[in-house]
Amino acid sequence: MENQYIIKGGTPLCGEVTIGGAKNAALGILAAAIMTDETVLIDNLPDVRDINVLLEAIRGIGATVERINPHTVKINGSTINDVTIDYDSIRKIRASYYLLGALLGKYNKADVALPGGCDIGSRPIDQHLKGFRALGATVNIEYGMINTFADKLVGKHIYLDVVSVGATINIMLAACMAEGRTVIENAAKEPHIVDVASFLNSMGANIKGAGTDKIRISGVSRLHSSEYSIIPDQIEAGTFMVAAAATKGDVLIKNVIPRHLEAISGKLTEIGVSVEEFDDAVRVSSNSRLCHTQIKTLPYPGFPTDMQPQIATLLALSSGTSTVTESIFENRFKYVDELSRMGTSIKVEGNVAIIEGVDSLTGASITAPDLRAGAALVIAGLVADGYTTIDSIHYIERGYENFEGKMTALGAYMQKIPVDDERAVQKFKLKVS
Ligand code: EPZ
Repeated sequence: MENQYIIKGGTPLCGEVTIGGAKNAALGILAAAIMTDETVLIDNLPDVRDINVLLEAIRGIGATVERINPHTVKINGSTINDVTIDYDSIRKIRASYYLLGALLGKYNKADVALPGGCDIGSRPIDQHLKGFRALGATVNIEYGMINTFADKLVGKHIYLDVVSVGATINIMLAACMAEGRTVIENAAKEPHIVDVASFLNSMGANIKGAGTDKIRISGVSRLHSSEYSIIPDQIEAGTFMVAAAATKGDVLIKNVIPRHLEAISGKLTEIGVSVEEFDDAVRVSSNSRLCHTQIKTLPYPGFPTDMQPQIATLLALSSGTSTVTESIFENRFKYVDELSRMGTSIKVEGNVAIIEGVDSLTGASITAPDLRAGAALVIAGLVADGYTTIDSIHYIERGYENFEGKMTALGAYMQKIPVDDERAVQKFKLKVS
């Protein structure tokens, strides 16, 4: 049954929220976990749809997956009996393609369906394939599948033409058991790259330089068991920071690494939000009208594209004219039309959104076009006067664990209800009136 969120806006978020493990680190780490025949224990796993779908794909190739609790899993790759990932898995979760690097690196062979385009724009994987070829793999694309094989993989100097999170992780996976030394130049530097590298190192890999643009990998002959806890999710944290600011609230966001949030904290401070940093928490509060600014999304440590819709929503409520330039994905402004139904004034020209701040928003029935845009619409709903319903929340559930529960604990009026359930709507309205 399809669900939707119903929100009554206008309540400042106040209190404490605890951030879960980083989805985009977890996706790489789960794929890496199959590369040893020994048992690996992974903790601080976010319990979100993308993770659960990838675990299904891993089970599907024969690996043993034991979910000890929602945030802890044990994986044993010794029982893998298939190196094929079909289109069904890739369609549900693009990051299944990390199994290409992992299987190729472990078995010198992998067949994975070619991912298509997606809701945020064209997403080529040429850099991943270029990396595999450089390591000595033959890569053929036939009948919608990427077929890769090699007699053996041999380390190489690889220069990425674009800074790509996915290609950096996939090449690291393929190279960690290749013969000799691999260097990835122009590598992505995101915290989740560092986390995947740290996890591989905890299994015995020899990867240096993750977090810089030059990653050096000395191949090892085997990987072994490990117990590992995933870093906190920078984007979940950033989303709550923006939600706190937008609702003029006061929220302590716990279990974060403040250094990973600097681009977000910096912009929030610049427009007038108060951001206080602690060792593993940030406190975000705001009680006055915020100012305008210019933002351009960039690879880490620049402002993350995964925070672009949320910050644009905040700027839509700030004074003056702001601009937001999206330089990573070409189709990440699809939420703008939905937001305009709530009273924003945003014009998109090419990859730039020109935002005229308005004083207030009004509730409306809207649809989440993708994961982060969906989160941004929730923030708009929390601010808006009256009721907002948001459809297609399965996108939001791909990356936010118990989003409505965490918001409710901060004082929001927000509930997940079945679509087209008028009685549930009435019940919610009665409860919050
Ligand atoms: C990762 O996607 C994240 N996904 C995305 O998070 C995130 O938006 C993105 O990085 C950018 O930070 C995961 O980690 C699973 P890229 P990825 O390869 O790896 C171009 C979310 O909301 N490119 O860094 O697919 C590409 O078109 C999601 O959690 C090539 O040209 O992104 C884009 O313009 C959505 N050729 C740019 O590079 C390639 O071979 C960066 O993409 C690969 C990428």
